[in-house]
Amino acid sequence: MSVSANSTGTPLLEVEKLKVEFDTRRGLVQGLRGVTLSIGRGETLGVVGESGSGKSVTAQAVMGLIDLPGRIASGDIRWKGRSLLGSDGERYARDIRGKEVAMVFQDPMTSLNPVLKIGTQIGEVLERHLGMTHAQARNRAEELLAAVGISAPGRRLDQYPHEFSGGMRQRVMIAMAIACEPELLIADEPTTALDVTIQAQILELLAELQQSLGLSVVLITHDLGVVAGLCHRVAVMYAGQIIETGLAEDVFERPAHPYTQGLLRSTPRLDEVSDRLVSIEGTPPNLVTPPEGCSFQQRCPLSGEACRKAPKLEHIRPDAEAACWRPSVPAWATPLMSPTFP
Ligand SMILES: Nc1ncnc2c1ncn2[C@@H]1O[C@H](COP(=O)(O)OP(=O)(O)O)[C@@H](O)[C@H]1O
Ligand SMILES: [Mg+2]
Repeated sequence: MSVSANSTGTPLLEVEKLKVEFDTRRGLVQGLRGVTLSIGRGETLGVVGESGSGKSVTAQAVMGLIDLPGRIASGDIRWKGRSLLGSDGERYARDIRGKEVAMVFQDPMTSLNPVLKIGTQIGEVLERHLGMTHAQARNRAEELLAAVGISAPGRRLDQYPHEFSGGMRQRVMIAMAIACEPELLIADEPTTALDVTIQAQILELLAELQQSLGLSVVLITHDLGVVAGLCHRVAVMYAGQIIETGLAEDVFERPAHPYTQGLLRSTPRLDEVSDRLVSIEGTPPNLVTPPEGCSFQQRCPLSGEACRKAPKLEHIRPDAEAACWRPSVPAWATPLMSPTFP
């Protein structure tokens, strides 16, 4: 299992110091404030954080979906080492988006055309991107529906989106996303609109596809529970920045950032009686005027003088980084690397 992008040569996707702004009537919203992450081949990265933390904007930037009033203010996005920004980059991006990198959204109903049969919609992708004939596309669409666990796929091809349940529609979206055999699948809250049993089935499907196709996956979710079984690494976002990142099991067992600890305390666990859920008090900062120092300081139980200066992501263990002046871990956990208490 590849757990680190660095161990497999050039990562597939690299996002570097990415800043995205939205020029709104309320002022300039700093949606992303310097996000850096990378994904290696066959790796699954979970991106977690409360609503508004910048998860979707990160995905949209990779997929070229930042529209006015938004713009990429600075930073870079690279696919296999080559930038997707600038005029050269945009040409390159057109070749790879939808093919080498594909995306699945939260609500399949908004992405599917209600008046076209499912087979027609999948077929169109195959004809347009892969140059298949109508007959080839129909056969392949049937195979794809089978691959995402839809039974009687031949019959289902001739049905309309409203004839599918929410979970089945999400399977159709996943079938469309993998139609061009992408190397990376970005799934933005793919199970949020579904009930718990169906959620688990969709996650299982993603895990199966990840294995059988050797896919890399970016799984975006506000629900840490969703990440646990599926992801190698996790990036925790807060107020447009990544504030902690590391191997998934490490981040769950030894969360170092007080925000990550708060998120974990507010997430139900399967292995615990969940009567001790505590939500994080307060609300995230306004991104028109984000605070000078640590963006979590107003809500942080550990905040002090030092936190008036913005902390950078620093290694706290060989495989883990946190942006916190006072990273802490439960007493029983592995000690941190040279903590930088100022
Ligand atoms: N089209 C837009 N116009 C203005 N602000 C936006 C727009 N899209 C996103 N934002 C802002 O960017 C920040 C990050 O949003 P988003 O990435 O959607 O959060 P989430 O983590 O919930 O996916 C939020 O403050 C949000 O209000
Ligand atoms: Mg979102």
